[in-house]
Amino acid sequence: MSDKKALLTNQATGKSVELPIRSGSVGPDAVDISALYKQTGMFTFDSGFVSTASCESSITYIDGNEGILRYRGYPIEQLAENSSFLEVAYLLLYGELPTAVQMATFDQNITRHTMINEALLRFFEGFHYDAHPMAMMVGVTGSLAAFYHDSLDIHDPRHREISAHRMIAKMPTIAAACYKHNMGEPIMYPRNDLGYCGNFMQMMFATPCEPYQVSPVAEKALNLLFILHADHEHNASTSTVRLAGSSGANPFACVAAGIASLWGPAHGGANEAVLDMLEEIGDVSNIDKYIAKAKDKKDPFRLMGFGHRVYKNMDPRATIIRQTAHEVLDELADSNNPLFELALRLEEIALQDEYFVEKKLYPNVDFYSGIIYRALGIPRTMFTVMFAIARTAGWVSHWMEMISDPAHRIGRPRQIYSGNALRDYVPVDRR
Ligand code: SDX
Repeated sequence: MSDKKALLTNQATGKSVELPIRSGSVGPDAVDISALYKQTGMFTFDSGFVSTASCESSITYIDGNEGILRYRGYPIEQLAENSSFLEVAYLLLYGELPTAVQMATFDQNITRHTMINEALLRFFEGFHYDAHPMAMMVGVTGSLAAFYHDSLDIHDPRHREISAHRMIAKMPTIAAACYKHNMGEPIMYPRNDLGYCGNFMQMMFATPCEPYQVSPVAEKALNLLFILHADHEHNASTSTVRLAGSSGANPFACVAAGIASLWGPAHGGANEAVLDMLEEIGDVSNIDKYIAKAKDKKDPFRLMGFGHRVYKNMDPRATIIRQTAHEVLDELADSNNPLFELALRLEEIALQDEYFVEKKLYPNVDFYSGIIYRALGIPRTMFTVMFAIARTAGWVSHWMEMISDPAHRIGRPRQIYSGNALRDYVPVDRR
């Protein structure tokens, strides 16, 4: 802790308190208010936690003004260019890039955990045929705790590690099973001869009737998209995982809670909402009408895939995905993809509009990702599931970081109470 201090003075009472200032390795300092209530009898208030740090973490750093995103200090641009999703998952979990031996061992461990219990496969028979995949993901992921009792002691580092490996490994299997259930096709088993992303593609699109050839283009595009979605500091779903985990809940339940939070259209559900929006706009000639709707305070419509709590500059992930979309669509011979052209024009027009410029609303990670998923044959209802597969690496890394910190405490925010003051019960015949 630095010896820097902040002085808070209550002008009504003239009383002041000194508060310590905490500094990280990079980024803004924080005023430590943990003793404020004890010292002043007052809370702080920060709806949506715009200016509130909930913890100290060494996993991911974001600078929203500069459009910087780093996993364990490595710039997202370099990881996107040089790494693989599993190598990034290792980096997020363990804090360092793996040696060749460490990577081979990690890859083998993950591969060995990709199957799910046969009884879990039968869960899918209970879901309605057109259940939203995210609803199935929440239910099945939470149910993992009903099967893996051998790794639920969160105070045992080895149990924590096995649970983390299991979730990273099993998320693609569960996700593909959701899709197969929706399609009415047989669920495909993982194949140990394939890499993480190729295995996912075969579980999604292979059938028992014929051999399936994994597309190298698809495998490369998925690796990139999963790297870009792997972690993002204390977003709503990661904060959900941490808050659930702070009570000592098992990691499967915590990640299920994270999936539920990610599903919201303001968060991970935005990638699905972007495609809905682009299809609703339909043509470049309608763009101005929808931009006007997005600016109209009386209209709940928002430009999905635009804006961000932290980025007040271009989301570096959106920049990378936009570049990749061109390559993927060209390689998939889908280069004159009308929705991609529409998205490019929408971005160009929005970024010239003073409303978006003044409010610093730029495309975020969700604006272009769906266009690539769609080109890979992945249906819209599965877009947020793709996000969940990747973000599982971040969720379990944050959960591990928190639980392995002996100083961690249960999260329990306070409130400003604005309800009724004390009053007595009124019998029904006198109401
Ligand atoms: C993700 O936190 C993360 O890191 C999330 C994420 C991750 O990797 O985990 O990056 C992934 O969730 C990306 C965001 C995906 N969501 C969307 O694309 C949905 C559309 N965007 C918005 O709903 C909104 O921008 C948020 C939710 C992303 C951010 O909301 P904030 O920070 O609470 O900002 P706000 O709603 O207070 O908006 C500030 C102003 C408001 O106008 P005023 O009240 O100040 O006049 O900007 C306006 C908003 O009305 N605004 C928009 C807008 N986003 C914000 N106006 C039109 N269209 C939009 N998209």
